[in-house]
Amino acid sequence: MKFFVDTADVEAIAELNDLGMVDGVTTNPSIIMKSGRDIKEVTKEICDMVSGPVSAETVALDADGMIEEGRELAKIADNIAIKVPLTWAGLKACNVLSGEGRMVNVTLCFSPNQALLAAKAGATFISPFLGRLDDLNLEGTDLIADIRTIYDNYGFETNILAASIRSANHMKEVALIGADVATAPPNVIKSMANHVLTDKGLDAFMKDWAKTGQKIL
Ligand code: G3P
Repeated sequence: MKFFVDTADVEAIAELNDLGMVDGVTTNPSIIMKSGRDIKEVTKEICDMVSGPVSAETVALDADGMIEEGRELAKIADNIAIKVPLTWAGLKACNVLSGEGRMVNVTLCFSPNQALLAAKAGATFISPFLGRLDDLNLEGTDLIADIRTIYDNYGFETNILAASIRSANHMKEVALIGADVATAPPNVIKSMANHVLTDKGLDAFMKDWAKTGQKIL
């Protein structure tokens, strides 16, 4: 499973990138707002740092506007994936932009049928939002599993990009289902390393080691 980082915090991306943990980056208008940065400037900085796809989202609500904005965002770098919402207009824009050979990430997906339409429209990535379904006490993981089944049934090449991931447990669940990519905030990716028994075991080893009086270096 590929790891995308769901942030425009360049320092956080750099830290994970140095560990080889970053296969791509996703942003959206809320993430750009939180960064306090200019969209083109920060996106360019990220694209220079990361060789994988960097999603930048359009904000027009009509297809022509999305296409125009998408072409403009794609000028930032070769690894831009243009993000459009899963509306009828977004599907039209996806069809045109992917027909031009551009990467397109169709976002705000909440149903298997929406994902089927995005694949038919030539999406490179479909972004089902796990956490926001969980917020409504709906099974977000069922959505990812249903999309996996549908795409596999017909050999669709659209990559399932599990999004709105809020916890290390979400990462495990989507990896078990077979999502192609998971995008998560940096703190969630880092939290995957944590285990209370690791901490406890390490503490016991350190205490015993101190009793030996030895040094390795
Ligand atoms: O990947 C989409 C993400 O940015 C939305 O996450 O936590 O706002 O639902 P969240």
